[in-house]
Amino acid sequence: MSRATAHAHPNIALVKYWGKRDLALNLPAVPSLSLTLARFETETTVTWGTTEDRFLFNGEAADPTTAAKIAQFLSLVDPARPPCNVDTANNFPSAAGLASSSSGFAALALAAVAASGQEWSKEQLSVLARRGSGSACRSLWGGFVEWKLGKRADGADSCGTPIAPSQWDVRMVVGVVSSKKKPTPSSAGMESTRLTSPYFPAWVETAAADVELGRKAVLDRDLAALGEVMESSTLKMHATMWTGRPTLNYWLPGTLGCLDAVQALRKAGIGAWATMDAGPNVKVLCLPEDSERVAIALAPWVERTDILAPGGDATVEQH
Ligand code: PMV
Repeated sequence: MSRATAHAHPNIALVKYWGKRDLALNLPAVPSLSLTLARFETETTVTWGTTEDRFLFNGEAADPTTAAKIAQFLSLVDPARPPCNVDTANNFPSAAGLASSSSGFAALALAAVAASGQEWSKEQLSVLARRGSGSACRSLWGGFVEWKLGKRADGADSCGTPIAPSQWDVRMVVGVVSSKKKPTPSSAGMESTRLTSPYFPAWVETAAADVELGRKAVLDRDLAALGEVMESSTLKMHATMWTGRPTLNYWLPGTLGCLDAVQALRKAGIGAWATMDAGPNVKVLCLPEDSERVAIALAPWVERTDILAPGGDATVEQH
């Protein structure tokens, strides 16, 4: 029996991933670019070689769907694996558009491979994390990370890659409009969007140019350019969701309240830009010195705000 514990931070996409070109391998239809956040974290311990599979999620037995997903994922690490225990917990709301699956599968990939006694490169771990949840391939690294489309049919080159040098001290102010579990998981949402939205082809066509703009903005330390492409990518993604059949809307009234507040801040000369994922919560990109003011502006619309700095790489230790 051997055991390893991993820690990983969630990442928030600045240029979004939405839509798969291969469902089984979780290969994306578009490239994307993200920021890994400090403080919010998944801690996952894997014990390799127990008497039966036992999976705990935030201290309770994982529901059957999650348990099946974890079991399948562990078999990617070793198809002849022994029974394992997995104990995973988040210090932030799960499944509410706060990217808990990104840190979740990054931590599980790291802990499972280490507990199994294997040594994989970070790229291989990123490819593995991607199989659990696409966005997880970006959470192996801290700071700004790009997820390249890749060309290979087996997906071995579709993984995260850090944008270097990516130490740029920005802030993401997370406004939790609702911490309830989202009604439509992102995989189901992105597939129905891909199949039915007339806007989906335009979304795919413009994504690579958005990533280019985003990468350049990071390298130039140009917050306005990054904020603009982030908002544009976000709104294009949600437009494809709304125009699918059946329509898919993750926003709540508080989401629009936050968007109005961010526009008012910009009119007042504060550099602040908003993004939303598969949930109602709003994350606002700004400079550290403006983050308190942004949090105050969001406060009427949200349950809570968190001001988060860029986070570091995912880590693992064997014990
Ligand atoms: O990684 P998934 O399957 O949970 O999909 C994530 C999708 C978005 O969060 C909406 C966008 C992204 O790039 O993270």
